[in-house]
Amino acid sequence: MSDTSENVDVRWHQHAVSRVEREKKHGHQGCVIWFTGLSGCGKSTLANLVDHTLHARGLQSFVLDGDNVRFGLNASPSLLKERHGEDFAKRFGLGFSSLDREENIRRIGAVAELFAQAGLITLTAFISPYRSDRDGIRARLSKGDFVEVFVKAPLEVCERRDPKGLYKKARAGELKNFTGIDDPYEEPENPELVVDSALHSAEELAEIVSDWLEKAGKIPKK
Ligand code: ADX
Repeated sequence: MSDTSENVDVRWHQHAVSRVEREKKHGHQGCVIWFTGLSGCGKSTLANLVDHTLHARGLQSFVLDGDNVRFGLNASPSLLKERHGEDFAKRFGLGFSSLDREENIRRIGAVAELFAQAGLITLTAFISPYRSDRDGIRARLSKGDFVEVFVKAPLEVCERRDPKGLYKKARAGELKNFTGIDDPYEEPENPELVVDSALHSAEELAEIVSDWLEKAGKIPKK
């Protein structure tokens, strides 16, 4: 790292519009609903269904999705290389090594924190396989702002679904460090909510999550 990047002196600026003022306007608090689980467990589908329900109820919500974020903010080295060159891509691009996943989740945690401060109900759908990364975000956020939802589904079920054909590639050795195959998934120990996507339809799960949010006082009653 260069000297200039080590000698940084940055200060936090207070926002002219407070979080409380924004939340008052929205009629609800901001928070982060963190969906975690294996690839193919249904995180994105579920997060989007909940988002749809909340939006229809006039609430301010937004989904940050693993695959989508990897096109922009957390672009892969191959995507960055073309536009910014090899050195830049190597330094800032993110793949699926444990360090890259850690940075992927750290950046998303920071974005989700900003969204929560903006009074949004932020729904994130990332495998986020490492417990310490998820716990790190929980620790950064204010108490009650982080709602961890474990979208549970046996590996066999996710592998049978294989919506993107990636499990097949991982089994064939064409894709390395694939979660559940040759990279670990560490289940949450004390999530706020566990939903089983092998037992329920996505619509049923979305209702379970919305009901939970209502009971927990995260969203206003219908
Ligand atoms: S995370 O581990 O860093 O949280 P993230 O949720 O952003 O992962 O991205 C996961 C998606 O990337 C998967 O749903 C899958 O489509 C794709 N993917 C590509 N390579 C891998 C891999 N080695 N392990 C897991 N997912 C992968």
